Amino acid sequence: MKKDLLTLNDITFQDWENIYDLACKLKKDRPALNNNVLAGKSIGLIFAKSSTRTRVSFEVGVSELGGNPLYLDQSKMQVGRGETIADTAKVLSRYLHGIVIRTFSHAGVEELAREAKCPVINALTDEYHPCQILADLMTIMEYSGTVGEKVKMVFAGDGKSNIANSLVLAAKLTGMQLVITSPESVGMSDELAVGCPNITWDPDPVRASKDADYFYTDVWVSMGFEEERAERMKIFQPYQVNRRLFDVAKKDAKFLHCLPAHRGEEVSADIMDSPASIVFDEAENRLHVQKAVMSMLFAK
Ligand code: CP
Ligand code: NVA
Repeated sequence: MKKDLLTLNDITFQDWENIYDLACKLKKDRPALNNNVLAGKSIGLIFAKSSTRTRVSFEVGVSELGGNPLYLDQSKMQVGRGETIADTAKVLSRYLHGIVIRTFSHAGVEELAREAKCPVINALTDEYHPCQILADLMTIMEYSGTVGEKVKMVFAGDGKSNIANSLVLAAKLTGMQLVITSPESVGMSDELAVGCPNITWDPDPVRASKDADYFYTDVWVSMGFEEERAERMKIFQPYQVNRRLFDVAKKDAKFLHCLPAHRGEEVSADIMDSPASIVFDEAENRLHVQKAVMSMLFAK
């Protein structure tokens, strides 16, 4: 694997298979397992945005691997008062064996990774959320036994969100059929899908949903986009994942969501709380898949 995990473009299909195999072992052995691959290592977890799942799963994950997790609130660090990213990266590399970062600017994370001697994992930027999508792929493997061309995923909503962008890279990696359905005025990040006939965009949510195996949606107002709330509530309304879309999908179609979810906005309450919803398996898999990635990147 490469030194850092900033987007799914950083991994090969073989890397994904290795991550998945290790994540399955770690999940199965969790009650007994104490492999201590991060013993004696300190991992910095820098957060500039709110988090429930990512923070807790990384803190627990580092501890379960025998390492020492350090939660660092970016607003309390000197980088928030003008210290450069490069200086921060050089200093942290002298203390830490790995950095996990959730922040706004993806370019900022790229710079941090370039300047840091230790590996860096992206825990969400405005543009990408690779750890989430690795957990989603693991969940799909558990339900369908494949993440390849036999799987049809429909992503409905903000076609340019960090989740949608990362799903595009996942479909590029695995060959999964991905249809992004979003308003004409939003579209999707076409540049990420160049040369991938398995990835398409359709402004008509019902047509897009035909024969879907999985529906995926994300909040209509991502962190950092709060001032666009009123406009977003209006334009994404027709893209709510609800019974109307499930009715044209495969009979056993499943619902995925990175969470947090807003019932009545991007998903109807009946779908979110139905047996088709596998969002808590998905959330649990964050822990296992991130432990696998950390074992591969930070234990060296
Ligand atoms: N899905 C996800 O990243 O959740 P948090 O924002 O709670 O970390
Ligand atoms: N697109 C959402 C994902 C949250 C996990 C956000 O960035 O707020």
